[in-house]
Amino acid sequence: MKRIPLYLTLIIIILLVLIGMLFFRMHRIERCMNQCQKPGCGQTGAAHDNDEAEQAVPDNDEDPIDLGEKMSRFFYFKNKLGVAIRHRNSELAAFYLEEIEEGADRIIDKNVMDEGIHVSNLMEQKLMPAIENMEKNLKSADQPAQWEAYTNLVNTCNTCHKLAKHPFVVVKPFEGEIEGQNFDPGRGID
Ligand code: HEC
Repeated sequence: MKRIPLYLTLIIIILLVLIGMLFFRMHRIERCMNQCQKPGCGQTGAAHDNDEAEQAVPDNDEDPIDLGEKMSRFFYFKNKLGVAIRHRNSELAAFYLEEIEEGADRIIDKNVMDEGIHVSNLMEQKLMPAIENMEKNLKSADQPAQWEAYTNLVNTCNTCHKLAKHPFVVVKPFEGEIEGQNFDPGRGID
């Protein structure tokens, strides 16, 4: 059997040591990124500061936004929007749609991550086009088309619930009446 030259053995040993050091360092950076949410974490702070992706997507714990509360407002306005459309009150419907849009805008601006789901992205990609479509339809007097756009908007809510791991939250177009408010067009009370 041929002997391995001494210099080759040395080079192999040095390489193994270098690889070992590299793994140790990577492990430390990874641990730091998992544990320390703020920049300046020990010796690996620089590596942490540079981690733009992590900082661009704050976790809910750091930047609290009560998604459940925002959703119950969506639910409330979704129902009123339905009543306004059925009462052929486009002006009032546009007002409620605006409320939903403002809520969605706020969620998009906050860059919300929830249980690993990029809620803001989903909001922008799924809900916004349905809101814009509804806006267009409210400009026409075509009530069946408005109701169709409304149904489409509500379906989009459910599409997102599925994608955001909440498939059990199923909302429906509101077909009832709401007491205590006049939904008819015009000023209502003479
Ligand atoms: C980004 C995707 C997304 C979109 C779009 C979305 N939701 Fe949600 N919704 C969620 C998530 C995530 C939750 C769970 C929130 C939590 O953890 O409290 C939720 C929860 C809810 C709940 C349960 C909370 C409650 O008050 O009962 C309702 C109702 C709801 N959404 C209504 C709506 C309506 C109405 C729309 C459309 C106008 C809508 N959602 C659009 C993601 C979405």
